[in-house]
Amino acid sequence: MYTVETFDLTKHYSGGKVKALTNCNIRVEEGRIFGLLGPNGAGKTTLVKTLLGIIHPTGGSAKVLGQPITDYHIHNKIGYLAENHRFPEFLNARQILLYYGKMSGLSKETLSRKIPELLELVNLSDWADVKTHKYSKGMAQRLGLAHALINDPDLIFLDEPTDGIDPVGRKEIRDLLLKLRTEGKTIFLNSHQLSEVERISDEIAILKNGNVLQIGRVDDFISVKSQYQLQIQNGTLSFSELCAGLNIPVLQAEDHYTVTVEDERHLNRLIDKLRAEKVLIKSIVPRKITLEDYFIDVIEEGEAL
Ligand SMILES: Nc1ncnc2c1ncn2[C@@H]1O[C@H](COP(=O)(O)OP(=O)(O)O)[C@@H](O)[C@H]1O
Ligand SMILES: [Mg+2]
Repeated sequence: MYTVETFDLTKHYSGGKVKALTNCNIRVEEGRIFGLLGPNGAGKTTLVKTLLGIIHPTGGSAKVLGQPITDYHIHNKIGYLAENHRFPEFLNARQILLYYGKMSGLSKETLSRKIPELLELVNLSDWADVKTHKYSKGMAQRLGLAHALINDPDLIFLDEPTDGIDPVGRKEIRDLLLKLRTEGKTIFLNSHQLSEVERISDEIAILKNGNVLQIGRVDDFISVKSQYQLQIQNGTLSFSELCAGLNIPVLQAEDHYTVTVEDERHLNRLIDKLRAEKVLIKSIVPRKITLEDYFIDVIEEGEAL
């Protein structure tokens, strides 16, 4: 069973004029961190709100925790940190967690045990009795995480949880998410910040204009193409003349060339050709393509799957 599974899920607003999400098919396995990446306006929030039953699809269907999204009972096992959420500023952290805990139907006894635990988890114990208008954005997000965990959910949706937070605050949130994964929770993370998702997600989907362009494990994304930096001693033929016919893209830098090849066999064909021309190869260094390079390629050139 997948924790989240969508079947051609579609959401078009304004009578079909705004195609926020079109035929989306994704699967999220239990206990994983799933990163949904895409530029602003890609449809990430629309997807999450549809999965939560906050808005209704105009096509397709989806299952969450094994049940159709129309089954409201599943919400007992889901946590949600909304994008740009705001808590009442006149309440402190303890009062906020009490308020949301009661809304989740938890008893006073359970909450008196649970609230200090959660405040400890998100490192806000010292701020428990301070009104939230004094909180930094990072603290407010950590409190948001605690609130999303109050009902001990199996699945947590986090919509841009690190947006507007400084690097230290971002690291704290990343560490927290990794810790939650070790507890077996499934995390669905929306973000337009690649570096955040790249570091912690087990699987990633890239969304653009409501279409899923790519989906897969982080490692698979990065190993799609290989790049190598080559240092050679220039002979009579130019490097691009040597590569002609091999269909290998070449970038020239001051003291080396960067070639992009499909695989190692492709690279070896290039080496054979260089050696046949008696070119002296000084070094070959593999270059890891970051997800950021890849993301930009996909977003700029991408077609729907
Ligand atoms: N309630 C709405 N009515 C009409 N259009 C909307 C509504 N909500 C979002 N949109 C549009 O749908 C598209 C996707 O938005 P959204 O899901 O918020 O993207 P993201 O979260 O990736 O930034 C955007 O073009 C946005 O303007
Ligand atoms: Mg959004």
